[in-house]
Amino acid sequence: MAIQKVGVVGCGLMGSGIAQVCAQAGCTVVVREVSQELVDKGLKSIEKNLQRLVEKGTFTEADRGAARGRLSGTVTLDALKDCDLIIEAIIEQLPAKKELWSALEKLCPKTTIFASNTSSISITEMATVTARPDRFLGLHFFNPVPVMKLVEVIRTIATDPAVFEEIVEFAKRLGKTPVRTSDRTGFIVNRLLVPYLLDAVRALEEGVGSIEDIDNSMKLGCGHPMGPLTLLDFVGLDTTHYIANVMFDEFKERRFASPPLLKRMVLAGWNGRKAGRGFYDYADPKNPKPMQLT
Ligand code: CAA
Repeated sequence: MAIQKVGVVGCGLMGSGIAQVCAQAGCTVVVREVSQELVDKGLKSIEKNLQRLVEKGTFTEADRGAARGRLSGTVTLDALKDCDLIIEAIIEQLPAKKELWSALEKLCPKTTIFASNTSSISITEMATVTARPDRFLGLHFFNPVPVMKLVEVIRTIATDPAVFEEIVEFAKRLGKTPVRTSDRTGFIVNRLLVPYLLDAVRALEEGVGSIEDIDNSMKLGCGHPMGPLTLLDFVGLDTTHYIANVMFDEFKERRFASPPLLKRMVLAGWNGRKAGRGFYDYADPKNPKPMQLT
């Protein structure tokens, strides 16, 4: 039976985007946050994005209303108990994720599929707190979710191949291009992206070029939509540092080691765009200015 009702846990940047694309694809979506304030904030950002689609002519007013009508917010996990699929997009901390999955295991019927949007935590390890490792997998979206076409679908050695293919088809229904990968830290994208981002910081530390010149080199020389230091600010320096540490821990390879400058910027709280500064100063968000860091 096709997936009709989707539960999304977490309504931050990623969770709200995931809830939005699921509702746009015709699913009934219940999104859960820990407080009503966070539910309201997440739903407001979805409403803004849906409105933007109407203004651009991608969506009719009726489409917007229908998508919004399929979405509801909650602060309880109980409201997710009759979902066909639950997608988790909460904080990247294993104990928090384990606690959540263990609670959902008790609430949901055996048929519900569990998927995590983690970018670095082991899917296999999360599945150990449930009695359904065969219906547990990774579904990794990219920021901004409504725009980025890729979704990584991640199987563990225990994932049922039929469930895996069902989720590959579901990703297509969302208008995304799914890629199949397995539960190895970083999957495909971060395995390649993280060493590249860390190398850009090393290049800056070593005086290879200025912030703007490093970014312009990759934008104009390689056709990337954003230079690596702008992308680091966009993804979050703390997030990238965290993923790098998990990958270094797994592979013990220098290419995954977080460079000293990145570590110090995270310690200082200069985590990028969301913090108002990172490699750039966002005092004027439309006109970011490179920071003096070296
Ligand atoms: N939500 C919804 N739509 C958005 C958006 C958002 N947050 N940001 C931009 N858009 C839409 C705009 O409305 C616009 O739509 P139209 O073309 O239909 O008008 C389109 O995206 C392009 O936006 P802009 O013209 O404002 O800006 P841009 O051309 O510079 O594109 C971008 C912005 C899409 C973010 C582009 O710069 C880009 O692709 N950057 C790279 C992003 C990237 O690499 N993301 C992956 C990060 S890694 C990750 O997420 C995974 C992980 O595990 C760390």
